[in-house]
Amino acid sequence: MSIKLNAKYTEDFVSKTDLESIAPEIKKAHKTLTEKSGAGNDFLGWVDLPENYDKEEFERIKKAAEKIRSDSQVLIVIGIGGSYLGARAAVEFCKSQNYNLVYKDTPQIFFTGNSISSSALSDIVSLCENKDFSINVISKSGTTTEPAVAFRIFRELLESKYGEEEAAKRIYVTTDKCKGTLKELSNKVGYETFVVPDDVGGRFSVLTAVGLLPIACAGCDIDALMKGAADARAAYADCDLQKNDCYKYAALRNILYRKGKSVEMLIAYEPSFAMMNEWYKQLFGESEGKDNKGLFPASCIFSTDLHSMGQFIQEGSRTMFETIVDVKKPAQDLFIDPLEGNFDGLNFLANQNMSVVNRKAMEGTILAHTDGGVPEVLIGVDDLSAYNVGYLIYFFWRACACSGYLLSVNPFNQPGVESYKKNMFALLGKPGYENLTAELEAKLK
Ligand code: PA5
Repeated sequence: MSIKLNAKYTEDFVSKTDLESIAPEIKKAHKTLTEKSGAGNDFLGWVDLPENYDKEEFERIKKAAEKIRSDSQVLIVIGIGGSYLGARAAVEFCKSQNYNLVYKDTPQIFFTGNSISSSALSDIVSLCENKDFSINVISKSGTTTEPAVAFRIFRELLESKYGEEEAAKRIYVTTDKCKGTLKELSNKVGYETFVVPDDVGGRFSVLTAVGLLPIACAGCDIDALMKGAADARAAYADCDLQKNDCYKYAALRNILYRKGKSVEMLIAYEPSFAMMNEWYKQLFGESEGKDNKGLFPASCIFSTDLHSMGQFIQEGSRTMFETIVDVKKPAQDLFIDPLEGNFDGLNFLANQNMSVVNRKAMEGTILAHTDGGVPEVLIGVDDLSAYNVGYLIYFFWRACACSGYLLSVNPFNQPGVESYKKNMFALLGKPGYENLTAELEAKLK
């Protein structure tokens, strides 16, 4: 087993009876999911995806990644939300938070089109100067404003550097299989395209071409990634809470929510997990946060954030619990030598690996936070391998779907995201929004 749940530090907050009481609800959620009978059932493609994926396209992804690695120093990945978070998270998890600086044999990967900041975009443009680069534009709808603006700019840059014909060979489009502006343009100009399946939503799409192409470009083993997810799928097929760590996690977080712990903080002691935290926040935030319900997904990297958020977690309002992703083996370890003279007084740390110090920090923090009234759920992961990130991704997907059904919400839609877009379009004068424009401008006066 690749992931192991430890619920020991929730025992003061969640009783055996609580778990027994929620077991029938878990069974029901499991049935809804497996029989595809619940809300959002047309977005369940992710459930069997680790086994049931397009093998021909998978090979094409590997070939495209090979080509990009051979002809590009930089890969520009354009996408927002579910169309970029998973890829970036997996690359940083498997490689490093400083991937672009540390790895020299694979292209640097810059993620853009995930904001409307002109400064952020300009920075990435300048990072491409005098470099050979390719673009992977990712948008299921093909119409999202942020990536569309970025694509305009980078496509022009590419065409002015290489000419239209060569530029077309350096643009890889991941979008709907037959519709949308990106697909139409690709058909016209001849870009290589990859598919976001109809029944897979953005936040469940990292194991499709959406995530796989950038991840493969970074030199991560995408076969191992899929294998990890496939093994997790097999491991979490049983609805018995005692045998299914994924559902036990869903049960614990929902019991805690019902007891007033409405904030879940995902914690890791490895900075390379920071983007996985962001991926998790989108996954759970968009899936559960609706109908005036849902746990608020937050995150921290420790011990870093113990120096900023630690005070609040220890003694602030008691509304949170922590889920700790406990990575057992770091990618690299350092040995701490004794220092002659012991001028800094740190020789009590000497003759051991730094990972041991990190572990003791974790253990001490767990005890302190539990004493402070913050329940701790531990998810143990062996190491930062591609196999484990695949496993973990599936673990969170399935727990998220189950949690959504426990809350009686549709975990697979995100109707609330449209509100800001509507207002932004009206304020920018997009045709069709004229009535709203006047109303909003009056409110802003
Ligand atoms: O989870 C989601 O569906 C969203 O975050 C989308 O991925 C995001 O809005 C980008 O959409 P698109 O891929 O259509 O550009």
